[in-house]
Amino acid sequence: MWSTDPSIKDIEQLDDSYKTISCDVLIVGAGGAGLRAAIECFERGTNALVVCKSLMGKAHTVMAEGGIAASLGNVDPQDSWQVHFSDTMVEGQFLSNWRIAEIFAKEAPDRVYELEYYGALFDRTNEGKIMQRPFGAHSYRRLCYIGDRTGLELIRTLEDQILARNIPYMDEVEITCIFRDSSGTSVSGCLGINIRSGELLLFQCKAVILATGGCGKVYHVTSNSWESTGDGIALACRAGAELMDMEMIQFHPTGMIYPAGVRGMLITEAVRGEGGILTNVKGERFMEKYDPKRLELSARDVVARSIYTEIVEGRGTPNGAVYLDIRHRGAEYIKNKLPSMYYQFLEFAGVDISKEKMEVAPTVHYQMGGIRVDPETCETNIQGLYAAGEVACGLHGANRLGGNSLSDILVFGRRAGIAASAKVKDSPAQQIPDESIRAEIGRILAPFKSTENVNPFALKEKIADVMWKYVGIVRNEQDLRQGLTEIGIIRLDSKKVQAKGPRAFNQSWIDSMAVWNMVLDCEAIIRSALERKESRGAHTRSDYPKKDDDNWKVNVVTKCEQGMMVQKIVPVPKMPEEYEKLINREESLSWKKNVK
Ligand code: FUM
Repeated sequence: MWSTDPSIKDIEQLDDSYKTISCDVLIVGAGGAGLRAAIECFERGTNALVVCKSLMGKAHTVMAEGGIAASLGNVDPQDSWQVHFSDTMVEGQFLSNWRIAEIFAKEAPDRVYELEYYGALFDRTNEGKIMQRPFGAHSYRRLCYIGDRTGLELIRTLEDQILARNIPYMDEVEITCIFRDSSGTSVSGCLGINIRSGELLLFQCKAVILATGGCGKVYHVTSNSWESTGDGIALACRAGAELMDMEMIQFHPTGMIYPAGVRGMLITEAVRGEGGILTNVKGERFMEKYDPKRLELSARDVVARSIYTEIVEGRGTPNGAVYLDIRHRGAEYIKNKLPSMYYQFLEFAGVDISKEKMEVAPTVHYQMGGIRVDPETCETNIQGLYAAGEVACGLHGANRLGGNSLSDILVFGRRAGIAASAKVKDSPAQQIPDESIRAEIGRILAPFKSTENVNPFALKEKIADVMWKYVGIVRNEQDLRQGLTEIGIIRLDSKKVQAKGPRAFNQSWIDSMAVWNMVLDCEAIIRSALERKESRGAHTRSDYPKKDDDNWKVNVVTKCEQGMMVQKIVPVPKMPEEYEKLINREESLSWKKNVK
C-alpha cells in the first residue's frame, strides 16, 4: 500500500493536524520478528499493519550472519531440544526464563523447516539435508546456515512471503508514542511520523507488537546500523511496561578495526566456526589460556573479554586489535563458506583473508535485556502490548549464544502474532484520550520551536562516546556513576534540541526522537549495571569480579514511575526439577569431541 504513496507534501513545521489510520494489530519493526508476526496475523485473518522507520528489509537481522540455531541433528544426531535448552540456560548464566528457553528450544526446529518451506536456500549436507556448523558454546553442530548470509536470506524469504500475501506495510514511519486507554491498562494506539512527508499519523489499534530490535547505536563501536536506537524499549517504558536485565549488553568478539568508516562492522563467528584461530601480536593462541577446552568457540562473553584483556595488557596489534586467521582453509573453501567476509575485507580494507590475517576487536552487537514479557504470549504488563525478538527480554539471560537470535525472532514473532490475533478478535477498539494525543504532538514538535541551537546529531555522538568510555566490557562503580552523570547532562540538553527546515526527511527531527529514546535506554542500562554487584556473563565488574549465585541469580527489573526510573530485584522463575536434570554442564563442554 505504502510503496505507491507519492505524497511528499510541504507541511508547516508546527502543523499539528494528523491523519488517522485504523488496524487491529500494529506491528512496529520489519526485522525477522516483525515480519514473522505479520505472517501469523495474516494467516489468522487479523487486520495487521507493519510499520518500520527504515526501509523494508533493512534490519539488524541481517547481522546474524553465521546461522540459525536449532537442534535438527542433521550433522550431530545426538543433538536434541533438551541439549539446546541446557546450552541456552548454562551460557545465559541462569538468568534466562526457563519456560521461554524451553519453548524456544522445542519450537526452533519447526521454524527452520518452515523457513525452508517458505523458500530459504540453506547450504546442504551430502545427503541433501540442511547443513549445520559449530558455533561458540553450542554442544553440537547446530547452526543451519546459508554461507555467511543467513540473516539476509531469512529477511529475503520472509519479505517474499509478506509481498506474496499482500500484507500492508508502511516503511519510513517513526513511531513516537504508544497510547493507553483512559483507564491506563490497555493499548489504544500509537502516534507516528511519515518520515517522507513529515505528516503526523495516528494509528488506532487494539494491540501493538514491538519488534524494533535493540539499542546498539548507543555505543560508539557497534555492528548495528543507524536504526538501532532502542526505540521500542523507550516506547514501552514510557507506556508503563517493565524492562529487565538492561545491564546485559553483548560485545561480539570480532568486529572490524579499520578503515575508520567500518570500525565495528561484524566479522561473523562463522569464521571461528569454520576453524579461524585467534592470536595476539606475539603469535600466541591466547584462547588456550582462557578456555583451553573450547578455545575460539568458547562463549561470546568469554572470547570478547579475552580479546579485550590481550589488547589492554599490551599484546594487541598497533591498531588495537588481535589477529583472526582462516588462511589455512584455502581460498576456495573461504569463498564458498564465507563469501561475505572475503569480499568485505577485500573491498573495505584491501585485505585478502585467504592470504592475510584479519585484525579484530570486540564490537557491541546485541542487547540481552529488554522488555519483560510473558513466556507464552510475549505480552507485557500492559494489556495488548507485545514484544518479540531483541527488544524483548527473557531468553538469553546474561549471554546470548550465537545463532539463537534468528530462531528467537521466528519462534516468538510467531507467538506474538498468535496472541495478538486472539486478543483483538471480537474485542472493541479503545478510545485514545484526546489530551494524550495533544500532549504527544506538542512533545514531538518541540524541536521546531527550540531556539537553543542544540544539535541532536552531536548529542547522539556524545552518548556513544560516554557509553563506550564508562559502560564498556569491564565496568566499575566510579565509571558507571560518571557515565550516569554525563548521560543526565545529555538528557537535559536533549530537551533543547533544534530542528530547522521542512518536515519531510528532516534528519535533525528524527535524530531528536532517537536522542530522547537513547538517553532513556542508557539510563536504564547504567542504573541496572550499578544495581548488579557481581560479574556474570556480559556484565563484568572489576570491583565485583566474582559471580555471586547466592545473591545475584536474579533479574533486575526497571520501570518508569512518575517520571522516575526505579529498579527492583526479582528472583529468576524456579525451574521444575525435571528440567534441572536436563542441565548438564559436562554435556555443554563436550561438543568438541563431536566435531571433526
Ligand atoms: O557472528 C554472527 O554471525 C552473528 C550471529 C548472531 O549474532 O547470532
